[in-house]
Amino acid sequence: QVTTEAQVTEVPVASTGQTISKDVTILYGSQTGNAQGLAENAGKTLEGQGFKVTVSSMNDFKPNNLKKVQNLLIVVSTHGEGDPPDNALTFHEFLHGRRAPKLDDLRFSVLALGDSSYEFFCHTGKEFDQRLEELGGTRLSQRVDCDLDYDEPAAEWLESVLGGLSEAQGGSAAPAQVTTAQTGQSAYSRTNPFRAEVLENLNLNGRGSNKETRHLELSLEGSGLTFEPGDSLGVYPENDPELVQLLLEEMKWNPEESVTVNKQGEVRPLKEALISYFEITVLTKPLLEQAAKLSGNEALQELVSPGNEEQVKAFLKGHDLLDLVREFGPWNASAQEFISILRKMPARLYSIASSISANSDEVHLTIGAVRYNANGRERKGVCSILCAERLQPGDTLPIYIQNNQNFKLPTNPDTPIIMVGPGTGIAPFRSFMQEREEIGAEGKSWLFFGDQHFVTDFLYQTEWQKWVNDGVLTKMDVAFSRDTEEKVYVQHRMLEQSKELFAWLQEGAAVYICGDEKNMAHDVHQTLIDIIEKEGGMSRDKAEQYLADMQQQKRYQRDVY
Ligand code: 2AM
Repeated sequence: QVTTEAQVTEVPVASTGQTISKDVTILYGSQTGNAQGLAENAGKTLEGQGFKVTVSSMNDFKPNNLKKVQNLLIVVSTHGEGDPPDNALTFHEFLHGRRAPKLDDLRFSVLALGDSSYEFFCHTGKEFDQRLEELGGTRLSQRVDCDLDYDEPAAEWLESVLGGLSEAQGGSAAPAQVTTAQTGQSAYSRTNPFRAEVLENLNLNGRGSNKETRHLELSLEGSGLTFEPGDSLGVYPENDPELVQLLLEEMKWNPEESVTVNKQGEVRPLKEALISYFEITVLTKPLLEQAAKLSGNEALQELVSPGNEEQVKAFLKGHDLLDLVREFGPWNASAQEFISILRKMPARLYSIASSISANSDEVHLTIGAVRYNANGRERKGVCSILCAERLQPGDTLPIYIQNNQNFKLPTNPDTPIIMVGPGTGIAPFRSFMQEREEIGAEGKSWLFFGDQHFVTDFLYQTEWQKWVNDGVLTKMDVAFSRDTEEKVYVQHRMLEQSKELFAWLQEGAAVYICGDEKNMAHDVHQTLIDIIEKEGGMSRDKAEQYLADMQQQKRYQRDVY
């Protein structure tokens, strides 16, 4: 079987025979919680092997202590266009800056998480790996870059780290007991999802809207699963059966042919395998390269040959597997060979829109339906369109809870909160409000919501109005961008009230942003700096530092996508 998952760099590792400390520091930089889960898991495994382990978010680690660390493990994801996660930003900057210390005594290893459909695959992990070497560190074991399906390469990394640690101590490598992380008390997890029954599935937008936003209610009864406001739900979707049918016809394959779908040797009919087990709507560079080898197609081999990076990038955009086989087919490959180059169906993460204290044994989601045209065909988001077009009450969906420590209500219920969540970014704030109402929190709260039209797109309108009337929500400001001549966005509303907003910050308010990263969250971030600069009478630098300090104190948290 050809695998796209682990890519190991060829670099020298620590020499053997030296005696070093049993202290290991594991630092993670995590946006959605995957890197954190792996870091905590690695910590438990190492403790089981007799190491003294400290696991910490990069944000909570004092850079000055770096000189004292002898064994450092870094687990870090990359998001957006090669950016570090929010809780890695300060440490990343410190390490790459002039104040970074010489680290000649340091032994380290990096586990990088990423998604090979992005150009800057595992970029942040690569940067840490290179920089630690530049500063004088020696690798305990080589960096491993993981794609979405990270369990196996991560376990292999941990095995070689253990080997490196034991070797460096002059001992023999103990066989590693590598375990997989479990969420809380439940038997269900990312690798063993729970089939949750659909209780409700509604369109939140009114007739005539440009948008379709699904409100989903799922039952957790019997699962033992629980969660906190700010956590996410992982959902394993199914591909569109019509798209699978087209693919089967194009390749002239028998839908009932048996294929092996995983390393455990599970066998399924081809059609079912393509619907439930593999990703067929996203192309990656490693996939194109393997397809070129497998098909022997000359045009495809030409496309992936060195020097054509821009053409590859262009082809990856807005094309799927059906486009690939239509353009470069027919192929002389068996169905089994074909599916062996595909990525496993990845779960989609959605910010949970309900509180379990307010709706016991239930979890609610707010999902925007994704439909667009590209390269002559209508394209559909896999999970969102499954929910919009095919999922009925009574059906079940495989789900798991993804704990997100980077988006949590203040521990003190008296702390004021400011929530900025246009579009589906509203989801976690419904959870926040349900929770604060349920526990009778006294802290002030302020919501900024925006969408296209007041009449059709004010998601959960009656619930917000009730919370305002009941005093659960102190203030609400809305921006409907397409009801007026000039576009109005949430950040315009924030700016209009900059004095009061800054006063809330001075009182210790926590600020939360959820939703689109590239445009909205970026602009809102700049606006926050504008407000702090103006109302605090600070220089730009000081204002930026003010917001960075808030982030450090977990008073500025983002759940962006
Ligand atoms: P638009 O689509 O009319 O441009 C939720 O999608 C809301 O976010 C919409 O009203 C959308 O406006 C708005 N939006 C788009 N870009 C934005 C940005 N850069 N900052 C804030 N809101 C934005």
